[in-house]
Amino acid sequence: MKPLENKIALVTGAARGIGQAIAVQLASDGADLALCDVKIEWLDDTAAKVKALGRRVETYAMNVADAAAVGEAVAKVAADFGRIDVLVNNAGITRDTLLIRMSEEDWDAVLDINLKGAFLVTKAVVKHMMKQRAGAIVNIASVVGIMGNAGQANYTASKAGLIALTKTTAKELGSRNVRVNAVAPGFIRTAMTDKLPEAAKEAMLRMVPLGRPGEPEDVAKAVAFLASDNAAYVNGQTLAVCGGMVW
Ligand SMILES: NC(=O)c1ccc[n+]([C@@H]2O[C@H](COP(=O)([O-])OP(=O)(O)OC[C@H]3O[C@@H](n4cnc5c(N)ncnc54)[C@H](O)[C@@H]3O)[C@@H](O)[C@H]2O)c1
Repeated sequence: MKPLENKIALVTGAARGIGQAIAVQLASDGADLALCDVKIEWLDDTAAKVKALGRRVETYAMNVADAAAVGEAVAKVAADFGRIDVLVNNAGITRDTLLIRMSEEDWDAVLDINLKGAFLVTKAVVKHMMKQRAGAIVNIASVVGIMGNAGQANYTASKAGLIALTKTTAKELGSRNVRVNAVAPGFIRTAMTDKLPEAAKEAMLRMVPLGRPGEPEDVAKAVAFLASDNAAYVNGQTLAVCGGMVW
C-alpha cells in the first residue's frame, strides 16, 4: 500500500514549480488531487501529469488572498471528493526590494498571499478535518523566514509568520488529530528564483554545503513524508530542505 493511498489532497499554487512537483509526488504516493491556482486554466499541465499517474484530479480557481474565493473553492472540493485529508499551503509570491524602497503595496501583496492566504485556506479546510477527526497540513515556508534576507522584508516576515502559524495551529488542532508542519525550502530551481540576478544566485549557492540548488522534487518528497502517516508523531515542526544552508 502506498503512503497516501486514496487520500484526498488540496494543493494551492499548484500550476507550476514546487506546487506542481508536490501534486505529482502526492499522486505517485497514491493521493487524489484537488489543484488550486489563481486561474483554473493554468492547472491543465499539472492535472495532466496527475492523471497520467492514474489518480483522480479536479481543478479549481482560487486566489488564496480572497476569502470569498477560498470559501467557494474549498466547499466545491469537499462536495466533489467528500473529504479533505491533506492541505498544502504552497501559493506564494515575492516582491523583492530593500526596505527603504519597499512600497506599502509591495508589503501588503506579499503578506496577503503568503500569510493571510494560508490562514484563510487553513480556516476553510480545518472545518472538514475537525469533523473527520483526521488531517495533515503542510505549510511551505522558507529558510529566509528563519535567517532573514536583505531585500526581502515583506517575504521573510510572511514566512516567519507562517512558521508561527504552523506552531499555533498544531497546538490548537492536535486534540482533533490534525497535524500541522512546515517545510522551509532553501534555494530551489523554479521560475521564482530564475528571475534573480546571477550574482544573487551565486551568493546563495555559496551558502549551500551540498553545492547545488535544490529541485522542486526535493521539496515535494519532504512534503509527502509530512503529509503521510509515516510522520504520524511529527507535529508543529519546520523541516528545512536546503542542502544544509541553515539549521
Ligand atoms: N523557489 C524557491 O527557491 C523557494 C524557496 C523557499 C520557499 N519557496 C516557496 O515555495 C512556494 C512555491 O514557490 P515556487 O518557487 O514554486 O514559485 P512559482 O512562482 O514558480 O509558483 C507559485 C505558484 O503560486 C501561484 N500563486 C501565486 N499567487 C497566488 C494566489 N494569490 N493564489 C493562488 N495561487 C497563487 C502561482 O500562480 C504559481 O502557480 C512559495 O510559497 C515560495 O515562497 C520557494
